[in-house]
Amino acid sequence: MGEWVRASFGFTAGGEEVSAWTIRAGEYSARVLSYGGVLQSFSVPAPEGERDIVLGFDTLAEYEAQDKYIGALVGRVANRIGGASFTLGGVRYPLAANSGPNCLHGGRRGFDRAVWRGEARGELLVLSRRSPDGEEGFPGTLEAEVSYSLSPAGELTIRYFAKSDRDTLCNLTNHSYFNLAGHGAGSLAGQSIRVNARAITPIDQTGVPTGELMPVEGTPFDLTRGRPFLEGLAESHPQLALGSGYDHNFVLHTAPAGPLAPAAEVRGAGLVLTCETTQPGLQLYTANFLAGERGKGGACYGPRSAFCLEAQCWPDAIHHPGFPSPVLRAGEEYRHITLYRAVREEK
Ligand code: BGC
Repeated sequence: MGEWVRASFGFTAGGEEVSAWTIRAGEYSARVLSYGGVLQSFSVPAPEGERDIVLGFDTLAEYEAQDKYIGALVGRVANRIGGASFTLGGVRYPLAANSGPNCLHGGRRGFDRAVWRGEARGELLVLSRRSPDGEEGFPGTLEAEVSYSLSPAGELTIRYFAKSDRDTLCNLTNHSYFNLAGHGAGSLAGQSIRVNARAITPIDQTGVPTGELMPVEGTPFDLTRGRPFLEGLAESHPQLALGSGYDHNFVLHTAPAGPLAPAAEVRGAGLVLTCETTQPGLQLYTANFLAGERGKGGACYGPRSAFCLEAQCWPDAIHHPGFPSPVLRAGEEYRHITLYRAVREEK
């Protein structure tokens, strides 16, 4: 196991200092920022040497200017809350409508825009923050702690912990955009995805689940046996049209948390990336709304040039009693683990 090494990454526009933490483990390395808990790079051994497989930016100003959650930790509630409000314990909580009529990824200033406290504890980089009662409209003071670790076997593990002093909602994830051919490759050509899900939660015109479950069999959402991204995306299906590509929650299981289990696997460009999680859902997002952002080393990030595997509770679960509950009761512990393992593809 390697060690996390801190360096300054400059100051936010508001004058807060941001740290960059780097770790090397065998042939792998990763870099995490205290700003948004961003995974800035994940370099893996590839035939040509090191290959950085996550999208990102070189400077803090670019992270502050972006609105695509590239690399960031997302909270207090990742994904959409329909109608930008919810009722809990008989009280209605209005939220920011920052994605059409819905609240997306925690509101206007979600966890992705916060400077987290950072501390290296052995192989763990522990990021923590206190989200005050009422922040972005959510009830309760939430203490959140997210740790990153990297093993020489290529496992980047993210552990999520949270606790609130009042009943609240909590759904934390990481919004990294991957491209196995390298962050700047520009396309998902030659990469295939498998997802261990027999159903998705279909969406309406605003991207929010309708509340139904749609079996994937016979649709481009059947990724149970693995399929090239571009083949699935080229199919015609009303759900693909609504999401402008894959932008859907795949149903892993129906309990709020389960044992760490394989959720998805992406193969291509000589690598295999596996995602394992305790979460009940996986939002597969094919970066449909990237718009030519200028990334690391001048790379251009266009639509569908990457994929996100956002392990999380099902979107808008607070409005659907049949969905796993996103409610975190006062004093209860929220605990989840998601890991991404990148290894060379055996031929
Ligand atoms: C959502 C997309 C959204 C993107 C923001 C994803 O998690 O599902 O609809 O555009 O985040 O970059």
